[in-house]
Amino acid sequence: MSSELVIQGSLFTPVSPTEFTFLRQALVCIDSTGTIARIVRATDTDYSDVQQTAQRLDHLWQLPHNQYILPGFIDLHVHAPQWPQAGLALDRPLDQWLNTYTFPLEAKFADTTYATKVYHHLVHELLRNGTTTAMYFGTLHLDANLALARQCAQQGQRGFIGQLAMDNPDQTPATYRQASSQEALQTTERFIVQLQRLAKTTGAALTPVITPRFVPSCTSETLRGLGVLAHRNDLPIQSHCSESNWEEQYAELTYHQRDAAVLDQFQLLTSRSVMAHGTQLNADDLTLFADRQTTVAHCPISNCYFGNAVFPVQQALQHQVNVGLGSDLSGGFTPSL
Ligand code: GUN
Ligand code: FE
Repeated sequence: MSSELVIQGSLFTPVSPTEFTFLRQALVCIDSTGTIARIVRATDTDYSDVQQTAQRLDHLWQLPHNQYILPGFIDLHVHAPQWPQAGLALDRPLDQWLNTYTFPLEAKFADTTYATKVYHHLVHELLRNGTTTAMYFGTLHLDANLALARQCAQQGQRGFIGQLAMDNPDQTPATYRQASSQEALQTTERFIVQLQRLAKTTGAALTPVITPRFVPSCTSETLRGLGVLAHRNDLPIQSHCSESNWEEQYAELTYHQRDAAVLDQFQLLTSRSVMAHGTQLNADDLTLFADRQTTVAHCPISNCYFGNAVFPVQQALQHQVNVGLGSDLSGGFTPSL
């Protein structure tokens, strides 16, 4: 067998939430499509043959002993338009932070040239940090969200990309919201069609994600309509759930239910849903998440700033809730998962 590239080094790979495999000085053989064709262990009989052939063809890349091979990271929760304020503006509680800094920044993505510049840099930086798959919140702007998708396609990152929906006039500024539920739903539908077309023409791994920002920022009509769209098109869903006391209280005051139950009522908790944070999820909520097979994007750095709490990872795992990691840029300041 001859490979385009053979990387020789020690590698870690997770096999469950609590276990990983370690291979010392393996040969990772990569074919001309960039796919791992084979991993040769030091104990395999043809180990020396594969190594020598690669060396002769000048295809061998030997890692120094202080470097390791890891699988690509999957960042489950990135606010793409917040990249320009990563590491900044973390001095206010969530509701004030959104209105003071974040909504005005996201509104700037009406300018697609600005969006392309920011997203080029963001995707590049995430790849440099080992993030080969990201689940992104975009903005209200369809063209900017497609610009993000093009960057993923051009730079070779798998992207799950959300056209943001937020239309509740009580909780969002007039300068940064959709004018009606109809506008929110129609824009989402157009985005789904255009992103799927882009995925087809580029061959890139791009998937549209149904993205109600969170319960407070959406009208009930929009939450209902997005649940229907997700089911009709069999699409992933992302939002925030029980991030903070403030968010939890909003659900109880407005819907007389817990945040998780509100999302569930609108069919937004599915096996393809990724809900960020969850610091305030109680045992009943975790049982609901497990029943629906919904995943939590655990964002530990952000939770220090906005959750004022710690997500109970062990408790979630005991309830058999699926948990992954998110940077929550820019609620979390670092692009490094
Ligand atoms: N809740 C609603 N929007 C946001 C956001 O942009 N970041 C975080 N951390 N929480 C949110
Ligand atoms: Fe977030």
